Amino acid sequence: MTVKEMIQADEHDVGSQDSTENIEYNGCPSNISKPRVGTVELGDVTPHNIKLLRRLNQVIFPVSYNDKFYKDVLESGPLAKLAFYNDIMVGAVCCRVDTTDPNVRRLYIMTLGCLSSYRRLGIGTEMVRHVLDYVTNKDTNFDSIFLHVQVNNQDAIEFYQKFGFEILETRKNYYKRIEPPDAHVLSKCLKKA
Ligand SMILES: CC(C)(COP(=O)(O)OP(=O)(O)OC[C@H]1O[C@@H](n2cnc3c(N)ncnc32)[C@H](O)[C@@H]1OP(=O)(O)O)[C@@H](O)C(=O)NCCC(=O)NCCS
Repeated sequence: MTVKEMIQADEHDVGSQDSTENIEYNGCPSNISKPRVGTVELGDVTPHNIKLLRRLNQVIFPVSYNDKFYKDVLESGPLAKLAFYNDIMVGAVCCRVDTTDPNVRRLYIMTLGCLSSYRRLGIGTEMVRHVLDYVTNKDTNFDSIFLHVQVNNQDAIEFYQKFGFEILETRKNYYKRIEPPDAHVLSKCLKKA
């Protein structure tokens, strides 16, 4: 199966993050632990695969990202990575440095996701590990890592909590065109008290 075909096969999930419950994998509902037999690897985003990244994000997220987002991603080096499961591109993480508050330097996870049929296989974990490795060993001058998550996205909330992220605040009407419009800000503090 080509990457294109694989993404097409997953397209029924567009705009519905709850649909994972109905997907079957080797005869098991996806919310039951799957056998982890595959290889997960991360790779760089390049001008050659940026269109596939855009397609992947369109399938995974209910929010769409503009040209500037992808232009910035191409320049973000190790802050953006594609995830491959047995050589098939199934996920991606895109981060940027946030300096909105001049007194704190934070890493913002803009997107981190994988195709619904490939969830609970450790792919998200590999992507978070990459981000944590980056802030622990490559650029150690961050105060925290944060991201926004739709308040009803329990999968992602539980996923991030496993890595020590906490709900910092809830922002009303953060999203413009999706329901519910409210977002939790999840944050992981990196500075020792
Ligand atoms: C959140 C997301 C990235 C998790 O990716 P994943 O590859 O399924 O995660 P992993 O397989 O590495 O899961 C690691 C652990 O997180 C927790 N977890 C992951 N998904 C979970 C779920 N649906 N319910 C409860 N816990 C969950 C579990 O503890 C899991 O370990 P286990 O499978 O051994 O029980 C994935 O669900 C996704 O792509 N969601 C859509 C995009 C999104 O909402 N991203 C977040 C906003 S940026």
